[in-house]
Amino acid sequence: MQRTDAPFLPQRLAGAEETFAALRRDGAAILTGCGAAREEARGIALRVLATLTPVVPDPAPIKEGGGNADRTYDNQPGAEAGLVVPFQTGHTDGFAYGDRYPDFIFLLCVRPSVAGGESFVVDTYRLLDELAASASPEDRAFHQFLTTIPVEQTEPGFQSSLAPVIGRNATGRRMSRWTPVQRPDASLPSAVQQQHAAWLTRWRDIAHEASLQAPRFTLQPGETMCLDNYRMLHGRTGFDDTERTLWRIWAWTTEAPAVPDGMLFSDSRFAVTS
Ligand SMILES: [Fe+2]
Repeated sequence: MQRTDAPFLPQRLAGAEETFAALRRDGAAILTGCGAAREEARGIALRVLATLTPVVPDPAPIKEGGGNADRTYDNQPGAEAGLVVPFQTGHTDGFAYGDRYPDFIFLLCVRPSVAGGESFVVDTYRLLDELAASASPEDRAFHQFLTTIPVEQTEPGFQSSLAPVIGRNATGRRMSRWTPVQRPDASLPSAVQQQHAAWLTRWRDIAHEASLQAPRFTLQPGETMCLDNYRMLHGRTGFDDTERTLWRIWAWTTEAPAVPDGMLFSDSRFAVTS
């Protein structure tokens, strides 16, 4: 599949309204002048998404190697040897919530890594549009699989999801996911599971290859990467600097099919089911 589109870098913007417009247009934008405090971090999501009456839980401090409770998966290809925190393939956030994953996410940089830890984003809508428009019947069958065939997306111990990789919200907007836990529906015959496993491997490889190709950018202190989590994958390069610090904010708007029940936080601690 030949990529013909120009490399995309999120635009840096100073105002919440223009950032929201850029999110609608591009799927990602960087809001500058955001401060560094927890309350400032939450306020960013409330301001940018103001027209969509967002539910915004407390921000989660992200400090790799310094008490971050996120789980890591060893099935992500491309980890660089020797780095404390390896390359992270572009992914969807909040998949522990199953189909009720947050529709927008924000990452406010408090302190960047001295080296590495560069961010990138991948536009799944472009990838999917290319597949749908491809002359290859194989590409179109793959697109059909992604958009119509339920696969197991439950992170073990968290909220369940048996749904197509690419869902739809009530208004018909595509809800893309790439996560390291996607696998075939175990109730299907093994030959069908094998076919689904092969397609899911292709989806992983597409996400990873696009991650390797994506232009990098380094968030500076006070800058917030704002993302449409239904459209964009996000990831970062590896780094050694365990003082790199961000606030992560998850948000659910009126465009999400549902807001998860109960307490919410900007990590998966309240998504646990067992
Ligand atoms: Fe993430």
